[in-house]
Amino acid sequence: MDSQVMPREQLGVCAEGNLHSVYLMFNANENIESDMRPCVANIAQYIFELADQYSDSAFNGFVAIGANYWDTLYPNARPSQLKPFPAMNKGTRDAPAIEYDLFVHIRCDRFDILHLVANEVNQMFEGLVELVDEERGFRFLDARDLTGFVDGTENPKGRSRQEVALVAEEDLQFKGGSYIHVQKFAHNLSKWNRLPVKKQEDVIGRTKVDNIEYASQDKPLTSHIKRVNLKDSEGKSMEILRQSMPYGSVKEQGLMFISTCRNSVNFEKMLESMVYGDSEGNHDHLMHFTQALTGSSFFAPSLDFMIKAE
Ligand code: HEM
Repeated sequence: MDSQVMPREQLGVCAEGNLHSVYLMFNANENIESDMRPCVANIAQYIFELADQYSDSAFNGFVAIGANYWDTLYPNARPSQLKPFPAMNKGTRDAPAIEYDLFVHIRCDRFDILHLVANEVNQMFEGLVELVDEERGFRFLDARDLTGFVDGTENPKGRSRQEVALVAEEDLQFKGGSYIHVQKFAHNLSKWNRLPVKKQEDVIGRTKVDNIEYASQDKPLTSHIKRVNLKDSEGKSMEILRQSMPYGSVKEQGLMFISTCRNSVNFEKMLESMVYGDSEGNHDHLMHFTQALTGSSFFAPSLDFMIKAE
């Protein structure tokens, strides 16, 4: 592909936040790849076009291919950093890997549209897949996680969303694509809500109501933002774009954590810092109040890659 031409990215990768979301995880049937390639391209194109049709409700989405399924679907080329989810465990802190072949992520400010599109996508896949997991996310209060803390404040803004999330010249064939990591976290809210607010704030590293970042010297080494605010060997900030939203029901609820990034290293290093901690063992105390039920690694190629690969 001409390095001067930016292939069209799938619009959900860098989109701004929405009120509602639907997450569909599929596993593919065997020996159907020649039908699957045009099918995923059609679905990605359909989602892309709906973003225009429903622009007043900010519809967006993407289709991503699982790390373990990639070579089956696209045997001729693989994104250079695509690898299975980096499962980790230390003490009671667990980040298991549960992989899926395909992930369809759709978001909109109207839930009825999402419901229709989710059914349509499922129909388009008929005979090719099994739907193995489905969740629906929602905006909680003023974009807060169910812990009551605003989530997404320090996300990249404006043009830098693309710079952080999309592969560029470093892997020309996959320009405009993005590495996606998903973890479904189930919160222990009764335990969390028993914690005094000041202690909750120490766990996050920001104030709760006003969402103000702690001064550097006041951030506990075990606070979430201390653990995930990392620099590389050249002193540059390692960033990801988070597209997480609360999900669930009274029975089970938490955060659908979604990272999109131009590399797969930044997410992995942050998760290591949360689970294993620093050299003194200071791990992320947020992990005492939430449990990762899944961990999946995908790549969301550009729309043009999928159409060309049909
Ligand atoms: C920041 C919540 C998991 C990476 C934050 C903030 C909250 C939060 C409340 C502060 C506001 C903001 O800047 O968005 C949560 C919850 C999680 C979770 C409830 C799971 C239950 C993760 C994971 C990662 C991560 C798994 C990466 C592996 C980040 C990053 C920031 C952040 C990079 C911005 C830090 C900064 O620059 O200040 N998170 N998070 N989070 N989180 Fe998480």
